[in-house]
Amino acid sequence: MEFTPPSRKCFPTKSKEEEEEDERIYQKYMDLISTLPTERGCTSDHITLYQGFWHLPTSSLLGVMAVQQHFKARSTNILLASTPKSGTTWMNALIFSIVNPLYDFSTHPLLTHNSHECVPMLEISIYKTSQIANPDVLPSPRLFSTHIPYSSLPKSTIDSNCRIVYICRNPKDVFVSFWHFADVIQIKLNKDQPVISLEETFQMFCKGASPWGPYWDHVLGYWKASLEWPKRILFLKYEVLRSNTSVCLKKLAQHLEYPFSLEEEKQGVVEKILELCSFENLSNLEVNKSSDKELVPGVKFSAFFRKGQVGD
Ligand code: A3P
Repeated sequence: MEFTPPSRKCFPTKSKEEEEEDERIYQKYMDLISTLPTERGCTSDHITLYQGFWHLPTSSLLGVMAVQQHFKARSTNILLASTPKSGTTWMNALIFSIVNPLYDFSTHPLLTHNSHECVPMLEISIYKTSQIANPDVLPSPRLFSTHIPYSSLPKSTIDSNCRIVYICRNPKDVFVSFWHFADVIQIKLNKDQPVISLEETFQMFCKGASPWGPYWDHVLGYWKASLEWPKRILFLKYEVLRSNTSVCLKKLAQHLEYPFSLEEEKQGVVEKILELCSFENLSNLEVNKSSDKELVPGVKFSAFFRKGQVGD
């Protein structure tokens, strides 16, 4: 089965008028962003407060606003939510494998594509900063990831009853992972500002002023929603997933309504998915190790793999 990354299908050729309309829409968002409170950023010269959370103003907040205004979820959609560095890349791979059981493991798309290509991030890959996409062209079930906090999700994701999975990770590991990630993609340094220290970044993270922070508010939004609507929202922890991957994988498949059949279990499908999506396997694939392919300019896919450990 041929695989084309979904986000590529979402950008139809637009007429000049349509392009100008997109530009007007993004300019409107820029105007709104310029009125919002700001704080010095640890990875950019400032971050912007929007609906109670801190955002990178251009690279993600424009996308968030576009998602809120234009994205229409369907009941069959699957949304993976997380704060950055909580295990999004791993979960993308697991969810994609569960929902696409027809791919042969020897030619599986995850062997040649990063999981962010298989499960595009709504605010980064679908609603880019220059063009309103058309994800309606994608067949159901559509899989998306997002860092958007629960309280800022577009209304249709709540109303449509689509499945949501949230992956949460110990904040100390999230912080350490974030610090290294920022280093790899060289965003600790502003052209005319000194490199920000680990201690200062840590203080900012603790007080909530980091991209997609406050961390605990992000986690709590999804945690409370998962208690209220357990059938709709599955709350998983990176650490539990790491120590008991097989049980979590089956629970995840059940939640997504793609449970493994007895036949599949007998054929070792669970083990094959675990092996395919393991840190050791994914991080050593050419696409994730040495290729120049990027999620967005300056962010190579290799930046999403470091140690994959608990308590680093
Ligand atoms: P570390 O920096 O601690 O190693 P995200 O995908 O949300 O950006 O999170 C990245 C973190 O998940 C990184 O953590 C990365 O190494 C880890 N990770 C990536 N793929 C993984 C996998 N298949 N299994 C476990 N951890 C993985």
